[in-house]
Amino acid sequence: MSHVPPTDLEARIRCKSLRDRIATPEEAAALIKDGMTIGMSGFTKAGDAKAVPLAMAERAAREKFRITLMTGASLGHDIDKTLTEAGVLARRLPFQSDPVLRAAINRGEVMFIDQHLSETVEQLRSGQISPIDYAVVEAVAITEDGGIVPSTSVGNSASFAILAKKVIVELNLSHSPELEGLHDIFIPAKRPSRTPIPVVACDSRAGSPYIPVDPEKIVAIVVTEKEDSAARISPPDAETTAIAGHLIAFLQEEVRKGRLDMTLNPLQAGIGVIANSVLSGLVDSPFHDLRMYSEVLQDSTFELFEAGKLSFASASSMTLSSAWADRVFRNIRAYKDKLVLRPQEVSNHPEIIRRLGVIGINTALEFDIYGNVNSTHVGGTDMMNGIGGSGDFARNAFLSIFVAKSVAKGGAISSVVPMVSHVDHTEHDVDILVTEHGLADLRGLAPRERAPVIIENCCHPAYRELLSDYFNRAVATRGGQTPHILEEAFDWHVRRLKTGSMMPTA
Ligand code: COA
Repeated sequence: MSHVPPTDLEARIRCKSLRDRIATPEEAAALIKDGMTIGMSGFTKAGDAKAVPLAMAERAAREKFRITLMTGASLGHDIDKTLTEAGVLARRLPFQSDPVLRAAINRGEVMFIDQHLSETVEQLRSGQISPIDYAVVEAVAITEDGGIVPSTSVGNSASFAILAKKVIVELNLSHSPELEGLHDIFIPAKRPSRTPIPVVACDSRAGSPYIPVDPEKIVAIVVTEKEDSAARISPPDAETTAIAGHLIAFLQEEVRKGRLDMTLNPLQAGIGVIANSVLSGLVDSPFHDLRMYSEVLQDSTFELFEAGKLSFASASSMTLSSAWADRVFRNIRAYKDKLVLRPQEVSNHPEIIRRLGVIGINTALEFDIYGNVNSTHVGGTDMMNGIGGSGDFARNAFLSIFVAKSVAKGGAISSVVPMVSHVDHTEHDVDILVTEHGLADLRGLAPRERAPVIIENCCHPAYRELLSDYFNRAVATRGGQTPHILEEAFDWHVRRLKTGSMMPTA
């Protein structure tokens, strides 16, 4: 980093006693020993530690060591892939979305603990999971008192740094120092004597703009200039546009019935193509002065800001395509009174979500005729990404909405099935299901009433008759509160395994 003017570094490392702790990524990586538990920053590819993990992977080529790695959520820059290929990961939590790591998890080589994103640091704080040896946290600055100013995500970084024995800071000069002031670091106290978290609206600020840590714990500062990985979000297609259309029509009807007003309730939208498209769809809706209380802000958030539809957004990370990242971060000062980034245990806190009446929009892999949702496991067995924050929001939302395309893999898979092969969100936590074919409003319906509504409104026409036939025979031959023919309930999944398609051959 010899080309970085010393005055720039002094402005970023304002705590004088820490200026002699600058280290190379290799020196910092050498501190991490076999068997340690490491808490790294990073949430949906934003604000991740970038140099130290890659130096750890290089070191593993010479010296075998394995660690437990905790993060906020998924990482960018192929970090999970590189660490997996280097054999560094023994255990990983609470979320990932990398194909190489996913394959290693499904081969049983990496133990993956799939957690609600609000829970990881609660368990750490109360000593229910193994303590952190080193926190590795990306920052844009270190304050006079040694406070760490996070970058494009907060995730679990604050509690990792506070609870870790030692801290390594990755000071990333590619991020604008103007990010300082965007964060609101409020750390809930230990239970059972905790007082309520004073977040009473999306724009509440309850904490400090930096992570307070004892500067003595900061053992190394690695200076980097690597930008966040760009989000790769496909543009809306015919199906996601239709899903957005059904949802907007439904919300308008809720307004007409007096259950919501035109500003709606705070919105949460999950990561991924479908949720992003649904939010983009709100640009052309009649709603106004919208607010978000979400965990991740994607391009669609800033489309809504630019369209004058959104007045405030609260989340734990900003994950943008390179075009939007350029636009937003060049202009971050203009957004500073419209945005806040919080620890994920606050952005996803069940009590706040329930109290603010958040409308939660998440994506399902599949759902069944009674409204149980599978977000994580393909064929009930193979991990996709993880539950992420979907459970934090779905269980506590004012309206818990799940969206999905009605079929996957060119029609070989129906997203609406007799019985989900794995349950992440039970029927009790699901109010509304939407596919490109329509919307099923499940509120106030018993299972026997839900099935026909889901089949008629959400199922792809190619599978509709098959699904009705299953339901009708289950009612006729078995009955019960939730009629199922157990010998047949997973036939569709088994057929997909055997033939590649859920559709029976003629
Ligand atoms: N069975 C097997 N594969 C399926 C499937 C099913 N029932 N439904 C979808 N898929 C596949 C798609 O074909 C696609 O595969 P590809 O990547 O090979 O093309 C992949 O799953 C992703 O689906 P896509 O339709 O592109 O949706 P998405 O990008 O929005 O992702 C989830 C959908 C469910 C995987 C994703 O939203 C997720 O991981 N959710 C859980 C975490 C979460 O909800 N967090 C919310 C707060 S951020």
